[in-house]
Amino acid sequence: MRIGLIGAGRIGALHASTLASLPPVTGLVITDVDRDLARVLAEKVGAETADSLTDLRAAGVDAVVVSTPTSTHRALVTYAAEAGLPVFCEKPVAPDVAGTRSALAAVRAAGVPLQVGFQRRHDAGIVAVRDAIAGGTLGTVHLVRSATHDPAPPPPGYVATSGGIFRDCAVHDFDAVRFVTGREVVEVSATGANRGDAFFAEHGDVDTAVATLTLDDGTLAVCTATRYNGAGYDVRLEAHGSAGSLAAGLDEHAPLPPFATGAPYAGFGERFRDAYVAELVAFCALVAGGGPNTCPGEDALAALLVAEAADLSRREGRPVRIAEVAA
Ligand SMILES: NC(=O)c1ccc[n+]([C@@H]2O[C@H](COP(=O)([O-])OP(=O)(O)OC[C@H]3O[C@@H](n4cnc5c(N)ncnc54)[C@H](O)[C@@H]3O)[C@@H](O)[C@H]2O)c1
Repeated sequence: MRIGLIGAGRIGALHASTLASLPPVTGLVITDVDRDLARVLAEKVGAETADSLTDLRAAGVDAVVVSTPTSTHRALVTYAAEAGLPVFCEKPVAPDVAGTRSALAAVRAAGVPLQVGFQRRHDAGIVAVRDAIAGGTLGTVHLVRSATHDPAPPPPGYVATSGGIFRDCAVHDFDAVRFVTGREVVEVSATGANRGDAFFAEHGDVDTAVATLTLDDGTLAVCTATRYNGAGYDVRLEAHGSAGSLAAGLDEHAPLPPFATGAPYAGFGERFRDAYVAELVAFCALVAGGGPNTCPGEDALAALLVAEAADLSRREGRPVRIAEVAA
């Protein structure tokens, strides 16, 4: 199959080298508004380039992978859907609920699949937690803890357009909690703090945050996020039940002495290398008609609604039900 990749930045470069190495992908065509960036990346991974979306379509692609900034996702997903092309889109589908619903409506109307890039669904440790919960080996699960701790803050310009720590960062935790438990979130209480650079507060954001989720069966989940985890990149998830506990990500690279014996992960690219490959292997199978959609757009909407509720809860200092932000 021939895949069109839109966006040759940080995550686009990672996806390009993965796609170029996958056996079902017989051709890769890269486009970016920065044509030089697309050309350099294409040369590196042995791909073709297209100067525009029209050229990308004319190049005869069977599906597209969208890895442009979040603000462009809705329009690009809609464009691909109207062209009848299956889409893999980086998270989130849009920065807001209305934009996400609009993109989902476009793919539904076109009858094409949309897979969203919540790669933790393909992380071996997180899948093992999901399987243990589903198989009953943890007994009744009372508590889930999920953490996304970045070693250093992103640049101020990124924070300005990121949508805030819950939509940009903890949204991965919200999706992971739903994924491992198979339950829906009904209520969120959240708070945040700023003890780092001033630009977080200047953009109405926080550098560190905690969200407590109540799930529809009464299970509690706690999600923590910080932009200042000096020890290193740390993403972990734990589930604690009446019959056992299981942790994902507590390996030799977790920056937690004395458990850590190896170097900490530098960032998401290292920590989730295998998961990024697995999600695109799954997408190729989906495009070929031989595999399930491992993260449909509806799951991205559900995670975004939790982020919306968390943001509102932090701002207003009160618990927020998902039904309120979904209305
Ligand atoms: N799943 C993950 O773990 C993960 C990690 C990082 C980023 N992301 C997501 O991936 C997306 C991209 O993030 P990034 O850090 O790679 O950004 P980036 O800024 O490094 O790259 C984006 C690229 O898109 C290009 N671009 C912008 N508008 C375009 C358009 N209309 N058409 C074609 N090209 C266009 C830019 O020139 C740039 O090269 C974001 O939505 C982000 O949330 C996900």
